[in-house]
Amino acid sequence: MPAPELRLVLAVSLDGRLAPAQGGAAQLGGTGDRRVLEEALAWSDACLIGARTLRLHGTTCLIHAPDLLERRRCSQLPDQPVAVVVSRSGDLDPALPFFRQPLPRWLLSPLDPADASPAAGFDRQLTLQHWPEALAALADAGLRRLVLLGGAELAGQLLHEQLVDELQLTLCPQLLGGAHSWLPAALSLEPNRWTLQEQRALGGDELLLRYRRLREPAPALAPPP
Ligand SMILES: NC(=O)c1ccc[n+]([C@@H]2O[C@H](COP(=O)([O-])OP(=O)(O)OC[C@H]3O[C@@H](n4cnc5c(N)ncnc54)[C@H](OP(=O)(O)O)[C@@H]3O)[C@@H](O)[C@H]2O)c1
Repeated sequence: MPAPELRLVLAVSLDGRLAPAQGGAAQLGGTGDRRVLEEALAWSDACLIGARTLRLHGTTCLIHAPDLLERRRCSQLPDQPVAVVVSRSGDLDPALPFFRQPLPRWLLSPLDPADASPAAGFDRQLTLQHWPEALAALADAGLRRLVLLGGAELAGQLLHEQLVDELQLTLCPQLLGGAHSWLPAALSLEPNRWTLQEQRALGGDELLLRYRRLREPAPALAPPP
């Protein structure tokens, strides 16, 4: 089974932050960003979400737009993609509103399920030891189009492993400063290059940029004259 298609979807400030300097649950995007986030979810079979983001926000994003829900129903897709939570600790409060949202919940974790049953609140649990195998297992289970909802720690790992195919960034018209860059500061990356697929003004001074990874090697730099 080929690896699933993976699209990272984030709202970022003009200075490349995904959360304010003091941290906490970031709400950067406006209505235009909400629409393109829902469009990405409507394209997907599942979304991946880091446990810290889920703890801070308490919920994941649902598709609400009637036209997108209709499109999914016409394509015989369930209303909402599966929410795949990534956690080492498995420490997720069952009282979080997430556990009452109308969508399937899977857990991806290196924790060995003590028995064959998934962790409390989850419909299914898959093992995460190495990312390529974990993504292949998701594809085997029918989740072939994945939206990666962050946060930075999770995004950094998948970019480091060159497993992200697309970047969908909404540039939001504010400067935030602080340490919460949309990629971890210590991240090391192989040389990489992306090609622009889409740019769209979203209203409210927000700009959507969608880039696709170029898999061929970057051209060698010309020697200095
Ligand atoms: N602007 C945006 O679009 C946007 C989107 C998403 C998030 N955010 C912001 O980003 C911040 C949170 O991001 P973050 O980087 O701190 O955290 P994160 O990436 O959301 O979550 C980190 C957690 O994910 C789990 N995890 C990561 N790698 C793992 C692996 N290989 N195996 C198993 N579990 C793994 C661990 O969970 P455990 O602790 O359970 O072990 C880890 O603590 C918040 O401020 C949030 O508001 C913004």
